[in-house]
Amino acid sequence: MSGDMLNIAVLGSGRGSNFQAILTAIQQGRITGAEIRVVISNNSGAGILEIARNNSLPAVHLSHRQFTTEDEFVDALLSLLSAHRVNFIVLAGYMKRVHPRVVEAYRRRIINIHPALLPRFGGPGMYGIRVHEAVIASGERLSGATVHFVDEEYDHGSVVLQKTVLVAPDDTPETLAARVLEIEHEIYPEAIRRLAHQDAVVEKA
Ligand code: GRF
Repeated sequence: MSGDMLNIAVLGSGRGSNFQAILTAIQQGRITGAEIRVVISNNSGAGILEIARNNSLPAVHLSHRQFTTEDEFVDALLSLLSAHRVNFIVLAGYMKRVHPRVVEAYRRRIINIHPALLPRFGGPGMYGIRVHEAVIASGERLSGATVHFVDEEYDHGSVVLQKTVLVAPDDTPETLAARVLEIEHEIYPEAIRRLAHQDAVVEKA
């Protein structure tokens, strides 16, 4: 990482609770050297855009459906990112693949959070409640959350930070998801704080 300020674009598709946790950490001064420049969603009704607007942050609905070709969509996304001087991308519940041209342009400058202990319980099709269903079905005693760099493969880039939670014998996918989400809200701001201070460490569970 360079010593520059992290000028962050947040990409998300849903309610935006991770974005809210990051924003609160910045607003409370727990993360320094980072600011949110723009929030982008493929879903015009996403809560994450609403949170951005309520905090007077640029909120942009950008979807491939607004373009004839995928290349035009990627061009528009890259232009939007440079117009906002973005040098770091945070995926927070973004349900779309990040195009390889964007990965290339922001190599090791895109992070994601996954609600399990990668490299287990990740990859195509492993998202949302399915992750927690798979963890419970496997009889695992531990789950958790992982912040990782994004590369061309789903849930594959190197780990920035992980934290574990215990799986209770009576957990349902929903109760486990709620416990993991609390951990997400701790480690996502913490990972960004460390990256902004260049003291990121790779931590394995
Ligand atoms: C989180 O569980 C995250 O791990 C996953 O999508 C969910 C996003 O939730 N990638 P939110 O929109 O941040 O509330």
